[in-house]
Amino acid sequence: MKFLQKKEIEKDKLPKHIAIIMDGNGRWAKKRGNIRLFGHQKGVSTVNEIVTASAELGIEYLTLYAFSTENWNRPQDEVSGLMSLLVSALEKNLEKLLKNNVKLLTIGDLQSLPHEIVKKIHAAQELSKHNTGLTLILALSYSSRWEITQAVKNIAQLCIDGKISIEDIDYNTINSHLCTNNIPDPELVIRTSGEYRISNFLLLQSAYAEYYFTKTLWPDFSKQEYLQAIYDFQHRERRFGKTGEQIK
Ligand code: FPP
Repeated sequence: MKFLQKKEIEKDKLPKHIAIIMDGNGRWAKKRGNIRLFGHQKGVSTVNEIVTASAELGIEYLTLYAFSTENWNRPQDEVSGLMSLLVSALEKNLEKLLKNNVKLLTIGDLQSLPHEIVKKIHAAQELSKHNTGLTLILALSYSSRWEITQAVKNIAQLCIDGKISIEDIDYNTINSHLCTNNIPDPELVIRTSGEYRISNFLLLQSAYAEYYFTKTLWPDFSKQEYLQAIYDFQHRERRFGKTGEQIK
């Protein structure tokens, strides 16, 4: 991998929204003969590095897949460990986030999280709500299938109540009922750890996203590789269904 300098990144061609599937914490820990939670702890350091780099670069939106709907099926001690880690990471870094003008948002089925944790997340969100720099979106108990099911239920209810007619439903209607309503679609989706899957993450929103897959495990992911992913994105031809000639 070529060593990239920050100056090689074109400031006027930054992806507005980057979304990351942070994968490989468990394998990173196992390789070191340690428990999975150790990998998640190291993963938090990478989160800090990438959030700081995003704010410095001028990325507008960063979404991190921190906990999926399916992650509830992991062993109980890992689930509770991850929840505690989330809160402690938030508490430890809140001051820095606020100082860096970061606005915190969440997407997902927050009601399924322990009440005490939700209260702390909401308090952090409230403190950051007037910030105008990077918007950091934590996907918590999130999955696209859950999100789309909720959207369909809500739209169906509007039809039953006579507030909209079936003919009025278009993609904008659906989009406005997703958790990411008011957030632009991700332009770049990164997945670490050598898995080539989307895993129920922002399925509709990523319809035209560029993907960057790397074998690097999340705890080893770095600002340098993040720059590489952005550089890669900036050198791709995005066609949105058109021909290469039409784009030129
Ligand atoms: C996937 O690795 C990672 C997760 C399910 C959790 C990600 C959470 C963090 C990085 C820490 C908390 C996050 C924030 C935003 C403070 P895996 O466990 O599936 O790894 P494996 O595939 O190697 O088993």
